Amino acid sequence: MSQSTVMAVENLGKRFRQGSEEITALDGVSFGIERGSFVAVMGASGSGKTTLLNLLAGLLKPDAGRILLDGADFSSLSDGERARLRRRRIGFVFQDYNLLPNLTLAENVRLPRLLDEAPADAERWSAETLDFLGLSARLNHRPRQLSGGERQRAAIARALAMKPEIVLADEPTGNLDLRGSTHVCELLRRLCRERGCTVLAVTHAPHVAIHADRILMLGDGRLLADRPVTDFADAEQLAIAYQRLLAPAREERP
Ligand SMILES: Nc1ncnc2c1ncn2[C@@H]1O[C@H](COP(=O)(O)OP(=O)(O)OP(=O)(O)O)[C@@H](O)[C@H]1O
Ligand SMILES: [Mg+2]
Repeated sequence: MSQSTVMAVENLGKRFRQGSEEITALDGVSFGIERGSFVAVMGASGSGKTTLLNLLAGLLKPDAGRILLDGADFSSLSDGERARLRRRRIGFVFQDYNLLPNLTLAENVRLPRLLDEAPADAERWSAETLDFLGLSARLNHRPRQLSGGERQRAAIARALAMKPEIVLADEPTGNLDLRGSTHVCELLRRLCRERGCTVLAVTHAPHVAIHADRILMLGDGRLLADRPVTDFADAEQLAIAYQRLLAPAREERP
């Protein structure tokens, strides 16, 4: 593992039991993530993207393989130690937002800072993030009073509240229009460039993935491709390569 690798997974595997059936959500996945890079994770529905993010955040434990955070085995830590590291170092944008319904947007975003010690300038930085995401006029709304896109942006603002070093975002633009998703990509890029933050974002959308430095493609729980974005001329070419890659994985299914 090189000095600049912030997170690495080795031979990662995860299975779920569903009644008598066992589902292999991830199988033999290995890669490293460079500090300060923006990595997009693509893959069809059910290919294991959320499972991968949950494992990286320590919300799930792997059945096989290891997760290394700065070279140390993150997956073997106790639940408490993992939770502490996660709160301080990792911002997580949940696919279904996970906003608390009885708290206002401002309270939802402030919550992580109440639960743990935040960096000194986190509050000011958080206010800037809310402003950048166009949420400043919605701070006193509860989640049900927000549009889908506003809820999604609120989940991003909350994930950034502790000024995390690593941001794991599960389809952070899934509910945004083209303008909104380009804006969020710009924010994620700025996090990497200006703050040295490392971002891993799940997306189905080639126009989002094209903003990343590197693209991982999952199919049926396996890593099908790990390519620098420079391999693709534009979003259209990426979309074609992605469809080609997914087609055989689909045909192999019973
Ligand atoms: N808690 C669970 N119990 C049983 N099976 C699960 C569980 N979580 C995920 N799975 C299964 O594991 C596989 C991968 O799921 P995952 O949520 O990681 O997919 P995904 O790539 O995020 O899909 P989507 O794009 O639809 O969000 C799926 O077959 C799913 O049904
Ligand atoms: Mg998912």
